[in-house]
Amino acid sequence: MMVTQDLFALPAQPLDAARMQALRLDLQAHAHRYYVLDDPSIPDAEYDHLFQQLQALEAQYPELVTPDSPTQRVGGRALDQFVSVRHTVPMLSIRTETDTEASGAQNFDARVRRELGLEETAPAVEYVAEPKFDGLAMSLRYEHGVLVQAATRGDGEMGEDVTQNIRTIGQIPLRLLASAGGQYSVPQVLEVRGEVYMRRDDFDALNEKQREKGQKTFVNTRNAAAGAVRQLDPAIAAQRPLSFFAYGLGEISPVQSGGPAFDTHYEMLQALKNWGFPVSALVGIAQGATELVAYYKSIGEQRDSLGFDIDGVVYKVNSLALQRRMGFVTREPRWAVAHKFPAQEQLTTVLGIEVQVGRTGKLTPVAKLAPVFVGGVTVTNATLHNEDEARRKDVRLGDTVIVRRAGDVIPEVVAVLPDRRPPDAQEFTMPRQCPVCASAAVREEGEADYRCTGGLFCSAQRKQAILHFAQRRAVEVEGLGDKLVDQLVDSNNIRTLPDLYRLGLSSLANLDRMADKSAQNIVEALEKSKQTTLPRFLFGLGIRHVGEATAKALARHFGTMDAIMDASVEQLLQVGDVGPIVAQSIRTFFDQPHNREVVDQLRACGLSWEEGAPAAVTPKLLTGKTFVLTGTLPTLSRDEAKDLIEAAGGKVAGSVSKKTSFVVAGTEAGSKLDKAQELGVAVLDETGLKELLNGSA
Ligand code: IVH
Repeated sequence: MMVTQDLFALPAQPLDAARMQALRLDLQAHAHRYYVLDDPSIPDAEYDHLFQQLQALEAQYPELVTPDSPTQRVGGRALDQFVSVRHTVPMLSIRTETDTEASGAQNFDARVRRELGLEETAPAVEYVAEPKFDGLAMSLRYEHGVLVQAATRGDGEMGEDVTQNIRTIGQIPLRLLASAGGQYSVPQVLEVRGEVYMRRDDFDALNEKQREKGQKTFVNTRNAAAGAVRQLDPAIAAQRPLSFFAYGLGEISPVQSGGPAFDTHYEMLQALKNWGFPVSALVGIAQGATELVAYYKSIGEQRDSLGFDIDGVVYKVNSLALQRRMGFVTREPRWAVAHKFPAQEQLTTVLGIEVQVGRTGKLTPVAKLAPVFVGGVTVTNATLHNEDEARRKDVRLGDTVIVRRAGDVIPEVVAVLPDRRPPDAQEFTMPRQCPVCASAAVREEGEADYRCTGGLFCSAQRKQAILHFAQRRAVEVEGLGDKLVDQLVDSNNIRTLPDLYRLGLSSLANLDRMADKSAQNIVEALEKSKQTTLPRFLFGLGIRHVGEATAKALARHFGTMDAIMDASVEQLLQVGDVGPIVAQSIRTFFDQPHNREVVDQLRACGLSWEEGAPAAVTPKLLTGKTFVLTGTLPTLSRDEAKDLIEAAGGKVAGSVSKKTSFVVAGTEAGSKLDKAQELGVAVLDETGLKELLNGSA
């Protein structure tokens, strides 16, 4: 047996070697399309199949495994420390322009022109403008087309060898693509410089996983990327999804004698693309200062909608001859500059932690901050969301914290600097009492929030309820802002919503700092607000889970306020968009006599709206169908399945009878399944239920 196998193996080897080489090239080309071009040409399963073929052959011929094989991305053992490496061409840093106005770009262009000795009348200098990626710089060394080393920047002269970790990045070729275009042959030595970074979606998913495992979350994408690159265990690094953009070269040889030669930075970027590297599609050519300014503005506008973080743009003189003429000052090239965007993260100190009470009684811990300019505005408050968040971040009075404000998102504290904590800083604890009305604060099981149980007894909730009712999207009482509502509630002029309409001119004019004219304006605004619409009025009542869209749907469906107040949960469920939670919330609201009283009194005060006829009831998909659930379903919990069925108009019952339309059975279904079979009731599994729900059954 042994002999026969050897006999077969020997002559087969050259063929297998060729097959292995073909598979490697094939897989490399597919990986490039998948990771770099984002345009795969074969299904994942087909790729996996080819990959497994190569793995099988490599298992058979371990001596034929090459370092650039796609099977060799993850491997190698954990290190004790990284080895230092000297950069043959130093990794330079770049001058930073922190002036975030147009002048940042104009000053650079003026300096370039001066240093090149250009007359004012000379044509515009041509630049390449690129995003400034917020990650960490990396130098990738290829010898004869194969990746042999990846090194961090370090101090620019000496970096750390992080090859094992960098190999796990799918976007980084283990072997240069040689065939693409053929315009640039593969140099003996090629060092590619670029930025390793983490995409925002990958960052969010990673932090979610960290939270689930009860582990520390990362502050931002740059820290997460740096942490992954500096992992001593490549197996861990492989689980931290990283990406790469190429933007420059280090050593390249031979530069002359047949090697690739470029005249411009832009051409060099095209060559990098052809060798298989990701080059940002946002890279552009700009003529002179005007186009640099336009680029800065345009990228600035796109900043928050990109899939990754950038902290500015980089301008580079395009002509390599001009670059050489300009040279360097100390360790910075004169031909490039980084033009920063306003920072989205800043350090500040915590002056206090307040607990705010929302309209529905929700208690939100808020950090009061020393004013800091971040993300384009001055920030003095940052939400800590809820008890768990506050505890996880462990923000304390006196702490120095990093605040982040990106786009229009509300500012948040991303991390505390523990080294700067004052020695006696007290841990924050969520109060068990409402800070405003002292009613008990409770956290329901499965909920993240504490809520004040004071209801409208709580002046904070009352104030919020009034502001909600008076807002522009509800009945709109122009000029009734939070200062005035504070005064009116604190002075006991208003206890309930209808009190608002009982305010006389004199009680308003008697308030502190209230001019007669302003009081008159409020009275008129109140009068005007009385003529409203049913959806606005309904939304203004502030029923939990009833937003504007739901209020409109309810008004359209029922036509009148009385019909809505009297609707049963089942009738409410007939409204598109209304699921069991919303239906129950509406029912509970109108089951409280004091809430019905509020509606009646508001009507008595003169609030009115047009009412209509109820819309024709369009039965939902499962209207009239009764379901019984039994056993454990593969993905849906019992409650989830029930919610889905009810949202589609169906009913869920506890026991099987002849009236049961379907029994939905999972694993370990018991007597209910037997009963269904006995009575001839249709039985569904989870897939069957889902098909029924999406109408494909
Ligand atoms: S060019 C000689 N281009 O910003 C010029 N750098 O100090 C070398 N960076 O360390 C850098 N995006 O980590 C360049 N498009 C870009 C960049 C970029 C991000 C980083 C890089 C460098 C730092 C500037």
